[in-house]
Amino acid sequence: MPKLIVVTRDGTEHPIEGEAGLSVMEVIRDAGIDELLALCGGCCSCATCHIVVDPAFADKLLPMDADEDDLLDSSDARTPTSRLSCQIPFDEALDGLKVAIAPED
Ligand code: FES
Repeated sequence: MPKLIVVTRDGTEHPIEGEAGLSVMEVIRDAGIDELLALCGGCCSCATCHIVVDPAFADKLLPMDADEDDLLDSSDARTPTSRLSCQIPFDEALDGLKVAIAPED
């Protein structure tokens, strides 16, 4: 299974394995990392699944759509590599992806 490295807000790195076909949000949630609230369950309507992608991986992701972009604009913590993790399909091509849980808004 492809690996995902999740950096929680205290700076700890959590290497986890994720099932291809899930979203990055689902992989993080299923690993029991509860800092990622993902309140809307992946419907792209809450922005509580905000992550910051390691810039080395930013160009491996599919571009965001307008809804994701609008929601991220509502966050004071937005960075150039911010994404909503529920909108990123996880698969073998993203093996080794490193993401940090964004600060709480
Ligand atoms: S889980 Fe709500 S926008 Fe991603």
